[in-house]
Amino acid sequence: MSNDATNHFVPVAAELLDVIVETPTIRTFVLRPARPLRFRAGQFVQLELPGLGEAPFTPSSSPQEPERIEITVLRTGLVTDALHRLEPGARLGLRGPFGRGYPVRRFPGQDVLVVGGGVGLAPLRSLLHHLFADPQSARRVSIQYGARSPAELCFRRQYDDWARRDRVTFRATIDRPHDDWDGHVGLVTTLLDDLDLDPATTYAVSCGPEVMLKFVAWKLRDIGFPAERIYLSMNRSMSCGMGLCGRCNIGPYYLCKDGPDLCYADIEDIPYALG
Ligand SMILES: Cc1cc2nc3c(=O)[nH]c(=O)nc-3n(C[C@H](O)[C@H](O)[C@H](O)COP(=O)(O)OP(=O)(O)OC[C@H]3O[C@@H](n4cnc5c(N)ncnc54)[C@H](O)[C@@H]3O)c2cc1C
Ligand code: FES
Repeated sequence: MSNDATNHFVPVAAELLDVIVETPTIRTFVLRPARPLRFRAGQFVQLELPGLGEAPFTPSSSPQEPERIEITVLRTGLVTDALHRLEPGARLGLRGPFGRGYPVRRFPGQDVLVVGGGVGLAPLRSLLHHLFADPQSARRVSIQYGARSPAELCFRRQYDDWARRDRVTFRATIDRPHDDWDGHVGLVTTLLDDLDLDPATTYAVSCGPEVMLKFVAWKLRDIGFPAERIYLSMNRSMSCGMGLCGRCNIGPYYLCKDGPDLCYADIEDIPYALG
């Protein structure tokens, strides 16, 4: 469930330090928890707005900075709407961390392919922080990212920095042609046609809308990736976050406990696992 002995029913108080506008519908909330909140890349927290409710989010910040948690949120409904209206100084609560996180122990000596769609790049950014911090954490990192339009590209301010790094390739695409964009056009799966990677020595990790995950998994299988080397972030609705309520199961797996990143080999044969 977690990596320490904290009581995960009780939220840790957190102060909102800053709000960064990423796109018209996505904001990053910079939080200072009352005590350091240690997490592994890919683990998630339940973010509580006192008096309103809570929702699960995977921090987009570095696991090496547990005293400063960033959470990047797409506005979609009750809790996220209210979050988007908050200003620095607001008080929130954090429960967790929950889930297993990305299988980073498998990555040293391997290439890592990161495939993101829309706000799905947010959970993957904590993995990028992990991979960038230690040259031994992986051999090469290939980031392939898609959004609907130029305005919806999340973390655009950081792409130059990512692309300039040794061992790192970064490419972005938008779904349809746009006057403000002279880069690649097409769904994110079209970026996977000409990868300079050997599927036998690469792990692929993907996060985005579930329909995108399905097509990414199929495409990766088509170009030779073994299902054992594909991990998908299944960010479905959750409740308890601790394997108690049964709200988040796919076959025998509880996403909150066994995920939210599942190995495709484990779910490939489960009917409707990806919708
Ligand atoms: C492990 C995990 C990590 C997540 N990480 C992030 C993150 O880093 N950034 C981010 O923006 N979102 C993330 N999400 C999704 C986020 O939790 C939902 O967007 C949020 O719960 C919506 O709450 P709401 O009250 O604003 O919307 P609601 O009022 O509950 O719902 C509004 C609409 O959003 C849909 N919706 C609700 N929950 C989800 C969901 N989990 N996935 C897709 N659609 C949903 C509903 O069906 C409805 O159509 C994550 C979800 C999980 C399970
Ligand atoms: S959210 Fe309750 S069992 Fe997973």
